[in-house]
Amino acid sequence: MASLTIRKLDENVKTFLRLRSARNRRSVEEEVRVILGELIEGREEPLTPFTAPPAASATPIPQRTGALPEAGVTLIIGGGIAAYKSLDLIRRLKERRIEVRCVLTKAAQQFVTPLAVSALSHERVYTDLFDPQSEFDAGHIRLARECDLIVVAPATADLMAKMANGHADDLASAILLATNRKVLLAPAMNPLMWNNAATRRNVAQLKRDGVVLIGPNSGEMAEAGEAGIGRMSEAIEIATAAERLLRPPVPRPLAGKRVLITAGPTHEPIDPVRYIANRSSGKQGFAIAAAAQAAGAEVILVSGPVDLGDPRGVTVKHVESARQMLEQVQAALPADIAIFAAAVADWRVANEGEQKLKKSSAGMPPLQLVENPDILATISKLTDKRPPLVIGFAAETEHLIDNAKSKLARKGCDWIVANDVSPATGVMGGDRNTVHLISRKNDEKDGEIAVDSWPAMTKEQVAIELVAHVAKSVTGKSREPAS
Ligand code: C5P
Repeated sequence: MASLTIRKLDENVKTFLRLRSARNRRSVEEEVRVILGELIEGREEPLTPFTAPPAASATPIPQRTGALPEAGVTLIIGGGIAAYKSLDLIRRLKERRIEVRCVLTKAAQQFVTPLAVSALSHERVYTDLFDPQSEFDAGHIRLARECDLIVVAPATADLMAKMANGHADDLASAILLATNRKVLLAPAMNPLMWNNAATRRNVAQLKRDGVVLIGPNSGEMAEAGEAGIGRMSEAIEIATAAERLLRPPVPRPLAGKRVLITAGPTHEPIDPVRYIANRSSGKQGFAIAAAAQAAGAEVILVSGPVDLGDPRGVTVKHVESARQMLEQVQAALPADIAIFAAAVADWRVANEGEQKLKKSSAGMPPLQLVENPDILATISKLTDKRPPLVIGFAAETEHLIDNAKSKLARKGCDWIVANDVSPATGVMGGDRNTVHLISRKNDEKDGEIAVDSWPAMTKEQVAIELVAHVAKSVTGKSREPAS
């Protein structure tokens, strides 16, 4: 079987391989193996121009299908008896969908073998700074940057001293000096070493440099009869700390709040087959429901007929007419926040035909219209179950701010989100929106009216911004408990 020397390949092929392997977070040799495999299976990527990987500092954690985004860790295993726990750590990280690439210091190889580490990580193991295979494509730089976090476990006193002083005379210390990723250290050493003034200085320096430490714990040492602070944290503790750094908890400012939202148009029947409708797509209301849900709220969305899928984790009540919408809104109370984004038809047909209306020589039958209930005004004026924060929308085609201000007073709501829906704006049915938030200063009933104009944004961004304002306003305010 012929062997291939990557160094002897054409410059442009080498560049292609370097970039592609960096993008896919593989070594160059592994990338070549994958390309050959794909060629054989007939699934090759064309050797056409490709986009270079983004700058290391901007590299996002790759999103894969599955419950959690996959993340990558470079795990540096230092030379100490606790190195055996790092084998369990690899397993614990992998079960959290974290890819692990391992580096073993020279001393670590006295405690665990590269073979065992490679078998558990399913990756090749890196041991030498001057390894011609990996250094051909600047291995220590790739190991330092093609990950989302560097974990050092066990972090020996020597490794910490090197790191605190910026040494780079082996692969592990070179990676730690070359990285711009967060570093998590799990120190493990004899209690006297941990308490030594030099180690204390190094620990203080590393903390100042932004390095995160987990442990050490106190307990018995491997050395007979010795105990104290110096035992490496358990693998599960280190994996949990790593995961917290990789996937910080998402803030949920609306946790415990119930949010009621209306969205979409209403259909007002003329007869069993015809109706009066408007051009509302429901996109803005649905985006608000999704943003409120993501902020931790319990969300009830009452929607008119729309062509959108139900947002995940939201209770959706589908209705047709304004009267059905009001019924569902009333049934959903009490709520902490109510946001009325629906484009409710102002009128309905009074004499709805039971059968399809027929053409006749007498011409078109007269359509008698009656006013629909105003859901926003009805809920705003409730005395018992009025949500503490009621928000209306004002879709206008002229005198936007003036109309919205008078709507705020007339409807009795707390805020109005006003937007210009003139056909030229493309807001109706489109993906972007330019809104103005109209409220009373300090949320006082007779307070001066404030207008906060936001730049043009996607409807999702408007939703996130609105939910952030809501969260700021309602913190601490709660609805009356349900009777
Ligand atoms: O009066 P106008 O329809 O412009 O008011 C818009 C605001 O009032 C929106 O928040 C809309 O959801 C709400 N509205 C309502 N019931 C109606 C009419 C409008 O809730 N019948």
